[in-house]
Amino acid sequence: MDRVASGAFPPSFDGHTRQPLPRFTALNQKERDTLERFFRDWSRLVIRALRPGGHVFIASNAFLSQLTFSALVEGGLEFRGQIIRLVRTFRGGDRPKNAEDEFADVCSMPRSHYEPWGLFRKPLPSGMTVGDCLRQFGTGGLRRISPQQPFSDVILSERTPQREKEIADHPSLKPQSFLRRIVYAALPLGTGTIVDTFMGSGSTVAAAEALGLHAIGVERHADYYIMSKTAIPKLAALPTEQALVQPMFVDLQLPLDPSPH
Ligand SMILES: C[S@@+](CC[C@H](N)C(=O)[O-])C[C@H]1O[C@@H](n2cnc3c(N)ncnc32)[C@H](O)[C@@H]1O
Repeated sequence: MDRVASGAFPPSFDGHTRQPLPRFTALNQKERDTLERFFRDWSRLVIRALRPGGHVFIASNAFLSQLTFSALVEGGLEFRGQIIRLVRTFRGGDRPKNAEDEFADVCSMPRSHYEPWGLFRKPLPSGMTVGDCLRQFGTGGLRRISPQQPFSDVILSERTPQREKEIADHPSLKPQSFLRRIVYAALPLGTGTIVDTFMGSGSTVAAAEALGLHAIGVERHADYYIMSKTAIPKLAALPTEQALVQPMFVDLQLPLDPSPH
């Protein structure tokens, strides 16, 4: 395989058992160690499968990204930054628990408006440039949105639309509009394979298929795997409508501030 595009948490943290999710802010040391080991080991395995210069995208959240991203680096992947998926959630922003009235003007943490996705790469072989990697392996860079627009690390996104949830009833289903942007960027020359080692209902595989890219998914839970067989073709068949594609091919029109402080 030559690429991995994935959004994943280890089994005991992903909610698939439909038990209450642990509060990510309140993980104890043992849980943090388990998480760290999981991602370090996963990183090592990914490196064995990736072509040099192949990219990895991994979904995280504002509390865990620091821990998971450093574990991936320990495993040998090169940190290349973060993709910020701008999405309005209902997490955070609450007043201090059991002291709401007393501290009515305080929130214990910010209301979350983004999802950080770690961007990693299997290191280029020594002496090789990105151009060399593109020529030899079809890897090393990210596909541009258009000749004028590079891939951007801030992506205006949406909450997963109801019509997609009706197709794939997975607790952490990501929207096709976002995933299609990611898989498009992941294969710089449009050749190679998208791999999601934690595919859930197969949304990443569906996004790849919608764009005519080859993809492989792995899922440990039989129910989700079975669901993916019907969900993938239906999600992939969703039209790349203007509304869906709009954020995909339009760059963020952020004001250019010469002194950004
Ligand atoms: C965050 S969800 C992915 C959801 C997916 N992006 C979607 O949109 O449907 C992570 C998935 O990884 C699966 N998983 C967890 N550990 C795994 C493992 N070791 N091997 C394969 N799948 C695993 C879980 O069952 C869960 O469905």
